Amino acid sequence: MLRTHTCGELRREHIGQTVTLAGWVHRRRDLGPILFIDLRDRYGLIQLVVDPATTPEARSILESARSEYVLQVTGRVRERPEGTANSNLATGEVEVEVTEAAILNAAKTPPILINRDGGEDEALRLKYRYLDLRRERMQDIVMKRHQIVRFIRDWMSNEGFWEIETPILMKSTPEGARDYLVPSRVHPGEFYALPQSPQQLKQLLMVAGVDKYFQIARCMRDEDLRADRQPEFTQLDIEMSFVEQDDVLDVVERLMTELVRAVTPHKQIQSPFPRLTYAEAIDRYGSDKPDLRYGLELVNIAEIAAESNFGVFTNALSSDGQVKGIRLPGCGTYSRKQIDELQEVARIGGAKGMAWMAIEADGAVRSPIAKFFESAQLERIKDVMQAEDGDLLVFVADEPMVVAASLDKVRREMAKRLQLMDKDAVVFAWVVDFPMFEWNAETENWDAMHHPFCMVNPEDVEKLNLNQLSGVRAAAYDLVANGYELASGSIRIHDRAIQQRIFDRLPYSPEEIQNRFGHMLEAFEYGAPPHGGIAPGIDRLVMLLVDSDNIRDVVPFPKTQRAEDLMMNAPSPVDEKQLRELGLLLDDRARARLGGE
Ligand code: AMO
Ligand code: AMP
Repeated sequence: MLRTHTCGELRREHIGQTVTLAGWVHRRRDLGPILFIDLRDRYGLIQLVVDPATTPEARSILESARSEYVLQVTGRVRERPEGTANSNLATGEVEVEVTEAAILNAAKTPPILINRDGGEDEALRLKYRYLDLRRERMQDIVMKRHQIVRFIRDWMSNEGFWEIETPILMKSTPEGARDYLVPSRVHPGEFYALPQSPQQLKQLLMVAGVDKYFQIARCMRDEDLRADRQPEFTQLDIEMSFVEQDDVLDVVERLMTELVRAVTPHKQIQSPFPRLTYAEAIDRYGSDKPDLRYGLELVNIAEIAAESNFGVFTNALSSDGQVKGIRLPGCGTYSRKQIDELQEVARIGGAKGMAWMAIEADGAVRSPIAKFFESAQLERIKDVMQAEDGDLLVFVADEPMVVAASLDKVRREMAKRLQLMDKDAVVFAWVVDFPMFEWNAETENWDAMHHPFCMVNPEDVEKLNLNQLSGVRAAAYDLVANGYELASGSIRIHDRAIQQRIFDRLPYSPEEIQNRFGHMLEAFEYGAPPHGGIAPGIDRLVMLLVDSDNIRDVVPFPKTQRAEDLMMNAPSPVDEKQLRELGLLLDDRARARLGGE
C-alpha cells in the first residue's frame, strides 16, 4: 500500500504516530517559509505542515506542488497549536508534520475548482466530469446512491426476490418513447432495440415460474429530455406472481419507508402512505403527481361562476369546461405586476388568462372582475375558497385538463415563493385507478396510458366492450413523492383473450401485434399466473434523498438535455467501413450535417 492511513481518519488518538498518506493537493498556503497543504482523498482532508527548518528536503520537493497534484507524504501526527483547531473539519484538531514527500503525479491547472462548488457552466462540469466528481458534494451523492442501491438489493433479497439480468440487445417494448436501435451486422437490415424497460421479460419470467423478480435495470428511451429525465436511467424493476394490487403496494411502501429511515434518517416520512385516485388527484391538485407537502388545493367554484355575469366563466362552463381557483394565503397585497407574472405561469400550463380577487384587510374584494358578481356571490366565493382577509384568490376557466395543468403550475410556483416545502419532509402517496387509455390528439388514436399490459378494472370491462374507452380504468398505480412520479406499475393481464382485446383497441395492425407481441400472446397460452409489478426510478429516488432537483447531479456520467455525453463526445460519427459492414448508408441530411461540422 502507498499509505498507512487515509486523509479523513486522523484524530487526537493518532497524535505521536508516524503515518504515510496519499492524496490530492486541495489547497496550498505559503506562510513565509512554512508551507501548509490540505491533502484530500475520498475520506476527507488533513492539514500538512512542511517546515524547512526541520525538513528542508521535503520542503523543496513540495515547492512545485500545485492544486490537484498527487502526493505521498510521511510525517508525525501532532496536535494543532492552541487556537488553530478547525471544528468544521473531522480531522481539525490535528495536523501532520511532514518529514518525507514525493510527488506521485503532477496536474495541469484544473478547468474547474475542486475546492469550491463553483457556479461554472454545467457543460464544463460535464466535459470534465472526473474532476467534478472529486468535489465533496458529488462524492456524497455517489456514496448515497451506492448506499441506496445496496440497501435495496439486500432488502429485496431478504424478501425472497431473485435478481435476474435481462438482455440489453432485444426487441422493442412500448413505454411510450422512441427506441434506441442497434443495427445487426450478422443480419443486415435488422435491428435490436435497447430496452425502454424490461417489462415484457419480467412478465415472461412470471410465466417461467420465478414468482418474485427484481433488477437494478438500465432503461433507454429516446425522448425529449427534461430536468427529471435522462435518455438512459435506472429502475428498480419488480414483478410478482399471485398478487393483487395491495400486495405490490405493500412491498414498495415497506421498502421505501425502511430505506428512507436507514439512509436518510434526518428525513421525516409519513406512514402509511395516503392513497388518492387519479381523478381525485387531478381534481384537488391538478396533477397526477401532486406535491403533498403543502395544501393550496384547487377549489371548484362552477356553481357560483355559472350565476355570474363574467363571460369568460359562463362560456367555459357552457362548453363543458370548469372554473377553479386557488387561495394564496397572505398574497392579497400583490401588485398588478406580481399578479401578471403569476398569470404568465398559468399560461405555461395553457390557460388563456387568470382572473383574481384580492381580499383586503377589511374583507373588501379588490378585483377587476368583481363588477360581474353580486356581493352575495362574492361572499359565497370567499366562503367556498375559505378565504381570509389578506388572501389572494386566483381562478382559471377552461377545459378541465387546461384548468388542471395551469393551476398545477401556479400551485407549484406559489409553494416555492411562499416557502411551503419542507426540505426534510418526504411525503409519499399512492395514486391509483389510472385511466387505461388516453386520447392522442396528434395521431387521433387511443394510446395505452401506462402500457398495453395493464389489467382493466373488472368494473369497467363492460365499458371496454362498449368501446367507451375514456371511462375505462386500469389496475395501474403510481408512487409519487414531493411532486415527482417515483414509480409506476400495474396488475397485468394474464389472459390472452383480454390482452388481445386491448391490442384491438390500440392503433396496431394485426401483423404489427403479431410481430411485436406474438411471443407474449403465445406465452400467455401456456399457463401464465396472475401477476403484477412496479418500477421505481432509482435516479429520481436519489434526487429526492439528496435534495437535488437536477437528475444530472445524481447520475455519475449523465447526458445533456440534447442526449450528448460531453466527456466522451458521444454520439459521434463512425467509419464508412463500419457502416458498410452494417449495411447502412447515411442520407443527404446526415451527410450534410457531418460535412458541415
Ligand atoms: P414507467 O415508464 O412509468 O414504467 O417508468 C417507471 C419509473 O421510471 C422512472 N423514469 C425515468 N427516470 C429518469 N429518466 C427517464 N427518462 C425516466 N422514465 C421513467 C420514473 C418512473 O416512475 N415497465 C413499467 C413499470 C411497470 O409497469 O412495472 C415502466 O417502465 O421514476
Ligand atoms: P378580459 O375579458 O380578456 O379582459 O379578461 C378579464 C380578466 O379575466 C383578466 O384578468 C384575464 O386575465 C382573465 N381571464 C381571461 N381568460 C381567462 C380564463 N380562461 N380563465 C380565468 N381568467 C381569465
